Amino acid sequence: MNQRSKLTVDFAGLGIPPGRYALPTPGAYDGYDRLERHFTGHLCLSDLTPDDVQFLRDHFAEQVTEHRRQAMDYFEARVPRRFNGVCPDEQATAWAEQFAANQHAVKSLLLVGPTGTGKTHYAWSLLGAVAETGTQVRWQMHTAADLYASLRPRDGEDSESTFERIANAHLLVLDDLGASKWTEWVEEITYRLINHRYEECLPSIFTSNLPPTELRDALGGRVASRLTEMCDRITLKGDDRRKGARS
Ligand SMILES: Nc1ncnc2c1ncn2[C@@H]1O[C@H](COP(=O)(O)OP(=O)(O)OP(=O)(O)O)[C@@H](O)[C@H]1O
Ligand SMILES: [Mg+2]
Repeated sequence: MNQRSKLTVDFAGLGIPPGRYALPTPGAYDGYDRLERHFTGHLCLSDLTPDDVQFLRDHFAEQVTEHRRQAMDYFEARVPRRFNGVCPDEQATAWAEQFAANQHAVKSLLLVGPTGTGKTHYAWSLLGAVAETGTQVRWQMHTAADLYASLRPRDGEDSESTFERIANAHLLVLDDLGASKWTEWVEEITYRLINHRYEECLPSIFTSNLPPTELRDALGGRVASRLTEMCDRITLKGDDRRKGARS
């Protein structure tokens, strides 16, 4: 990727999801000078001619389609069979669009509700909605129990670099928070992870089937306080859908 392709472009104004794009080459278009001034932040999108804007849309169209295809492939390769057909609702789509527009400004989400109300399903639908925006982002999804298992110190394993990879994911889903046996080690790792994402304004999606006071008791005041500030809470209600499926 050359230096030119890293210049700032008003992607949002062009309706183009954030990502790394190859810019047009000089000589590809008569009005290239104006485009160059736009790429370097010296000209607003509104100062470009309709032909300039059309040229840019045409230039980026193929790359946008390619980015969207890659994002959907990444999602489809990872979504478990049970959640294969998840379909984001309006709220999930709106959140994904906010994420695409500004990953560091979007609020994290805490999905709560009793067992079987669809929290994991909803989390996958959010990841599907993010993929549909075509945003180039490598998200990670772990149950809290799997996360602790993969971070436990083991001979020959560099669990600290695993921690850093997960803690720095552009988007992290942590499923079933508060469900694991609470030990000093679990408390410390959970605090480090959530505090890092809190400080770096990295968006996360947490799920838990504990009611708020029990979650606070389970995670401790410092983690719960950060979650309260970072997250919008979405409460899933209703019966256990798994029982419904059996009856
Ligand atoms: N909106 C939905 N439409 C169709 N099926 C759904 C929906 N939400 C959940 N389900 C189905 O209901 C079942 C339970 O959903 P899910 O596993 O997401 O629940 P949960 O709240 O995460 O449960 P737990 O607290 O036990 O982890 C799954 O089979 C899931 O596919
Ligand atoms: Mg679940």
